[in-house]
Amino acid sequence: MSVDTIGSRSTAGPGDFDSHRFDAVQLIRIKRDGRRLSAEQIRWLIRAYTLGIVADEQMSAMAMAVYFRGLDDTELPVWTQAMIDTGERLDFSRLGRPTSDKHSTGGVGDKVTLPLAPLVAACGVAVPQLSGRGLGHTGGTLDKLESIPGWQAGLSNEQMMSQLRDVGAVICAAGSGLAPADRKLYALRDVTGTVEAIPLIASSIMSKKIAEGTSSLVLDVKVGSGAFMTREDDARELARRMVELGEAAGVRTVALLTAMDTPLGLTAGNALEVREAVEVLAGGGPADVVALTVALAREMLALSGVDADPAKALRDGRAMDVWRRMIRAQGGDPDAPLPAARHQQQVLAPTDGVLGRLDAMAVGLAAWRLGAGRARKEDPVQAGAGVEIHAKPGDTVRAGQPLLTLHTDTPEAFDRASEALADGIEIGGPAPAGRLILDRVGRAH
Ligand code: URA
Repeated sequence: MSVDTIGSRSTAGPGDFDSHRFDAVQLIRIKRDGRRLSAEQIRWLIRAYTLGIVADEQMSAMAMAVYFRGLDDTELPVWTQAMIDTGERLDFSRLGRPTSDKHSTGGVGDKVTLPLAPLVAACGVAVPQLSGRGLGHTGGTLDKLESIPGWQAGLSNEQMMSQLRDVGAVICAAGSGLAPADRKLYALRDVTGTVEAIPLIASSIMSKKIAEGTSSLVLDVKVGSGAFMTREDDARELARRMVELGEAAGVRTVALLTAMDTPLGLTAGNALEVREAVEVLAGGGPADVVALTVALAREMLALSGVDADPAKALRDGRAMDVWRRMIRAQGGDPDAPLPAARHQQQVLAPTDGVLGRLDAMAVGLAAWRLGAGRARKEDPVQAGAGVEIHAKPGDTVRAGQPLLTLHTDTPEAFDRASEALADGIEIGGPAPAGRLILDRVGRAH
């Protein structure tokens, strides 16, 4: 199956499905009691849930049982494959170029996808990046790009293929055909306190990435106060399980564990982050964003067997050229001024000293309250809202100096944003470790 006729193995109807083969309650009891589900039971469960035969309340109980009991290394690949099998699977093998994608588990100020996709494409590897919109305190890549006047997230499979051929990089919305079981299960987990289960996160992310059809994948697993995983051991376990799922499905996969105790770069918020991404593509930008972009690009190129220097492609403007073509191909104007919020307010340093802590979660929540994020998936976001950062942990500051500038179209949000920041800023205290890349999981180069 090629992407010209992008794979469309859709959810089979109930006609060929034996809805009485198992009893959902029996399967919930097995997992609740800490026993292993058979492959046949898992396949039945996922399919029956997608078809509406297993009810939401039963799947909620199963998700909670998995939260406490886990899925072992024989159950998890079957669970993931069963989710992939509920939808279509793309295939870029006729592109004639290696493909590589990156997935971040989500952090504050994480705009790395924006410079990374054109950078890797500029080095000869095609990047098909299916992204989502943000929910909660971490921003979504599509929300960021949608702040560029004219830019469109929705592409057909054919448009995606043709842009990959012509430009080499696509960042667009994931269609509803990829792993529909995950769409349903993720929404259920979101309202039942079961998002934070490592096997459920691993199968959710990897079912979509494997179905997307990339030949290699680099995972950026965030660790720290602004991430899903606040403990390094949990992040390592999540990384290990995702890497194993990818490799078992024939996708060359590596994970980096990266710090998310403080925001990445100097901005959190949609248009603010696009501006910073463009600075990186112009050869400047904050050192941490540049370092992470280059480190992830090196991994993607190595997995694709391409020997190129991404730092050079950033410096010499090749990545910027691809960025401009990528934005234009999706209706955007790379030269148009970005939207700016109508109101600004500064947060000042209360005393002299070294900034010990600027907490990622606090900044993410503040940006969200200012209007950069959404509480429900149908809410709009403000393109110009967010937080601009003037000092990072380790910097010496003076009393009265601006630490942050808050941006919003709704000035009544300033008080709630400031409340979110109240416990997130500390001057003095121990010097921060400042490590960005904490570990690497996966095959050696
Ligand atoms: N992102 C996903 O796509 N799924 C999860 O379960 C968590 C984060």
